[in-house]
Amino acid sequence: MTKDQKKFYITTPIYYVNDKPHIGTAYTTIAADVLARLHRQLGEEVFFLTGTDEHGAKIAAAAETAGKKPQEFVDEISAKFSLAWDQLGIAPDKFIRTTDQEHISAVEKFLNQLKDSGKIYEGEYQGLYCVGHEAFIKESELVNGVCPDHKTKPQLLKEQNWFFKLSEYQSFLQEQITNRDFDIQPEARKNEVLSFIKQGLEDIAISRPNVKWGIPLPWDKNQTVYVWVEALFNYCSAIGYGQDDENFKKFWPADVQLMGKDIIKFHCVIWPALLTAIGEKIPKKVFAHGFFTVAGEKMSKSLGNVIDPNDWVAGYGADAVRYFLLREVPFGQDGDVSEDKLKVRFNGDLANGLGNLFSRTTNMIEKYLDGQIDNFYKSPKDLSEASEALYNLDFAHGLVKIWEEVAWANQLIDKAKPWELYKTDPGKVKELLLNLAALLLDIALKLSPVMPETANKIRSTLEGGDIKKAKPLFLKI
Ligand code: MSP
Repeated sequence: MTKDQKKFYITTPIYYVNDKPHIGTAYTTIAADVLARLHRQLGEEVFFLTGTDEHGAKIAAAAETAGKKPQEFVDEISAKFSLAWDQLGIAPDKFIRTTDQEHISAVEKFLNQLKDSGKIYEGEYQGLYCVGHEAFIKESELVNGVCPDHKTKPQLLKEQNWFFKLSEYQSFLQEQITNRDFDIQPEARKNEVLSFIKQGLEDIAISRPNVKWGIPLPWDKNQTVYVWVEALFNYCSAIGYGQDDENFKKFWPADVQLMGKDIIKFHCVIWPALLTAIGEKIPKKVFAHGFFTVAGEKMSKSLGNVIDPNDWVAGYGADAVRYFLLREVPFGQDGDVSEDKLKVRFNGDLANGLGNLFSRTTNMIEKYLDGQIDNFYKSPKDLSEASEALYNLDFAHGLVKIWEEVAWANQLIDKAKPWELYKTDPGKVKELLLNLAALLLDIALKLSPVMPETANKIRSTLEGGDIKKAKPLFLKI
């Protein structure tokens, strides 16, 4: 990293390996990949982290149900995540697994530091534990005696635990969030966190005596560290905490932590407090996106409507899935997705829109210019409104802006009628086609963080490729 080169550290949650990837977990990871690619395009030194969360009672139970040893079970499912991301064109700098020895060593070091900080103590806790959430749940949150999200009855636990003095961080957190040193977006999520903090923070148990599938506390081997505390620390262990200080210093704190709105309390309350206790900086920004429903219904295993991203990639290609998810629902809001909706966008925006513009332009270049566009003008562009929107995580708006240009260019061709104009003014047709080629290249540049494969095809065809061999970008389905 040169002196003035900016660094950009972006993370996704690490996903539970009790189940394979779905369209919701793909969403966060695609968004992070887009930001990583965009910041790289701007010359920043980027570190993009994703991975899998493999310890705890929930995973141990899933392994047992599958009749497998925990390690064997997590190896299999973690590989499915890694493969699914690969299929979606997602290229993280690191895919962390919490069963990695490096992570385990970093967590041990972190726990020792936490103990030295004087912010933890031993005590007894009695409460209702929801294994689905891997968290204690209040009686008042139950609906008909069950967790409303997981539809399961929580366990009543009475345990000896080690506690973290979260209650001491109330005013610190309020201050950091209000003055935006710790920026929580969108605004509604920030307000949600602030009102939660205002109700008063209680100390939290950070260890579990009866969960064997986890990392033992270095000073009390009868307890394993609470899986959320362990998991949150992945953001530090992945960049070398306790092992590669130089790299850790280079990238910490995280610039953007992406996640779904369901897990903001862990990331916006517990996480910054733990970091502060051990004297580390807190992340700069958390952005929480909304939740998908599928054709109007909550996505759930019992309804059988969970969408496997691999199925959509097989039918429509990675770029189309990336485009669809980011275009269909404004980032930060809840929204509905379905294969029908994907098909509409594929045939409309992609095949008839961008695909048509590309085919018409390359066909005409072949027909009227014999495929020759050697020295056409390539305009260097500042950060356009579209790229700026992507930069600010307003993906849908950025894509709308790009597609306005696509529509404009298609209309320009309709109006100019090059096939007639060629008979009277071939010079004008040449000018038009060179401009269209330049516009397509500009579109490819802006689009490449979202649709890297498509952008490459456009670029390699127009820049020195053989236009006569240009293939359609999208075939209507
Ligand atoms: N393991 C924890 C995170 C630990 S991070 C230190 C976890 N894992 S998870 O597998 O349950 O993944 C949760 C994430 O998946 C959510 O934050 C969200 O990003 C995404 N989604 C899960 N279901 C979703 C939808 N239906 N819609 C959109 N995103 C959803 O929590």
